[in-house]
Amino acid sequence: MDIRIGGGPATGEEVAAVDSVLGPPTSGWESGQRTVADTRVAYGGHDARSRRHLLLPALNSVQDRMGWISRGALEYVSTRLSVPPAEAYGVASFYALLATEPRAPMVAHVCDDIACRLSGGEEICRALESTLGPAGESKDGRSTWLRSPCLGLCERAPACLLQRAGSGEIHKEVASAPVGAADVEAALRGGEWPSPATPLVPQAGNSELRLLRRIGVVDPESLEDYRRLGGYSALRRALELGPEGVIREVLDAKLVGRGGAAFPMGRKWDAVAKASVRPHYLICNADESEPGTFKDRVVMEADPFALVESMTIAAYATGCEQGYLYVRGEYPLARRRLENAIEHCRAMGLLGADIMGSGFTFDIEVRRGAGAYICGEETALFNSIEGKRGEPRNKPPFPVQAGLFGKPTVVNNVETLINVLDILLQGGTAYAAIGTEGSTGTKLFCLSGDVVKPGIYEVPFGTTLRQLLELAGGMRAGRSRAILLGGAAGSFITDEQLDVPLTFEGTRAIGSTLGSGVVLVFGPDADMGEAVLRIARFFRDESCGQCVPCRVGTMRQEELLHRMVSGRTIGSPDDELALFKDLAQAMRDASICGLGQTAAAAAESALKLGLFKSNGTINGSTH
Ligand SMILES: Cc1cc2nc3c(=O)[nH]c(=O)nc-3n(C[C@H](O)[C@H](O)[C@H](O)COP(=O)(O)O)c2cc1C
Ligand code: SF4
Ligand code: FES
Repeated sequence: MDIRIGGGPATGEEVAAVDSVLGPPTSGWESGQRTVADTRVAYGGHDARSRRHLLLPALNSVQDRMGWISRGALEYVSTRLSVPPAEAYGVASFYALLATEPRAPMVAHVCDDIACRLSGGEEICRALESTLGPAGESKDGRSTWLRSPCLGLCERAPACLLQRAGSGEIHKEVASAPVGAADVEAALRGGEWPSPATPLVPQAGNSELRLLRRIGVVDPESLEDYRRLGGYSALRRALELGPEGVIREVLDAKLVGRGGAAFPMGRKWDAVAKASVRPHYLICNADESEPGTFKDRVVMEADPFALVESMTIAAYATGCEQGYLYVRGEYPLARRRLENAIEHCRAMGLLGADIMGSGFTFDIEVRRGAGAYICGEETALFNSIEGKRGEPRNKPPFPVQAGLFGKPTVVNNVETLINVLDILLQGGTAYAAIGTEGSTGTKLFCLSGDVVKPGIYEVPFGTTLRQLLELAGGMRAGRSRAILLGGAAGSFITDEQLDVPLTFEGTRAIGSTLGSGVVLVFGPDADMGEAVLRIARFFRDESCGQCVPCRVGTMRQEELLHRMVSGRTIGSPDDELALFKDLAQAMRDASICGLGQTAAAAAESALKLGLFKSNGTINGSTH
């Protein structure tokens, strides 16, 4: 038995939106025309359920066209895919970019996260509040605005994602930065839209770089141009080496993952290549939702063919025939560029059957997230693709044993994957000579906040934070109040720690982390209490709610930090500090996944450093 949703049949437009993903129904059992055969035979159930992975694409399609997902639309999708309506509702209500209540068709998602706050993001929200009304309300029924977590445009902050629902050309999405309140308001009132943000890459054109050398040089829409600059010579080399040879080079390179967990890539690839269960799947994790992070976006927007080539090599080495590129919903330009690149590669025999005449078959499908940071966690990502709520799974089993659809799966971050090109062209041993023993190669860093030249930078591992900041023209005020290293799940450090070598081991030694490569500088006058509260809100919002330590812990943490910042402590400030430590410990020890395990890290470091004033009630403030 299942809870029915009710709410009337789907409209013609809603049906068209769903059918554009699923195709028209083929029987009365799937909401199609009822035929005589339908009255005698029940069929379609297994087939329909095997397409459950199309649930999120179908919901995204309805959202795109209608601006929200009505009960009728949900019923229709549920019937088509044979998914219990309550489960479909559970999925639709999981994602921030999907609305399950009526919403105006035009929406501005205005970033009020940490980097944008440093550039006036909060002021934009206040201005919109006074002119357009509270977030989520719509005076004219045509447009509204919402607060958003980091949109991955931090180098050009403040940022905004504009969406307009409708069919065909009417549907439009633009991620723009920098924007002002007047730009957002004008667009919402039917005026011109701000143009899409272009990546800020101060090193662009530097031919000595490995990961960024084509950025700004190659035409991201042209396969010919990519090939002119040496594209697809790494795949040719891979085909010469054979799968085992490719894995050997990656092991020799000592490449570790750049998605945050720093796991050796060669070991992961080797395990999947040797797994006897078939098929194998490859997933490129392009969910990039860690506040302050935008490196993968820049690569996908400006050098998309490099990612497609890298994924093809990864699939060849590990025996995968199907790949998924899971791009966060807030990156419309990256998604379009990648879809274009995949189409071109397919047309030229670089994807599909018998790639380059080698007999090897592989294809890539782009999957679009819908606003959920947790879907970047690899097992949550599997559930998201499978059409379930994006909730992490317990490990073991590990993805290399039982991942997507229960099959051996390789999951790699965008930046990790594109390293493979140079590893194959120059050899794993030569690659390992760059950087340090424990952190080989080069690394992309996302510099934002109070730096002179924010943007994405590539440096060899071992470069100090001071050197990296010098490359970016230094800090605007010549000093900082604090620097957030690694993202919201990272930690704050101070100017005394500028000589830390940027390596996995170097940052660990000072109790910090490289995380996703975030370096966010807070100027001397930054309000650190506000920053810490925003991070706490982020984790409370983004917790999937599956396990108690994280679901309740992130909530209690936020409340506690509010009390500390406002000075309205329960008991003495020391009592609050002791409670905070207990909470942090419980989240670290008992949460299922990395979100809960790291949710207290930034606040803990801020408290340790005495970074925020708490109206005189907390000791240790140096402000
Ligand atoms: C809450 C959470 C969010 C994550 N988000 C991302 C992400 O957006 N992109 C990513 O590559 N890895 C992310 N990860 C790490 C992945 O789980 C996984 O380790 C990674 O994709 C593996 O790729 P790599 O080995 O190439 O780093 C996240 C982990 C957690 C716990
Ligand atoms: S730690 Fe948080 S995000 Fe992770 S599974 Fe538990 S509730 Fe969900
Ligand atoms: S885009 Fe606003 S904080 Fe990243």
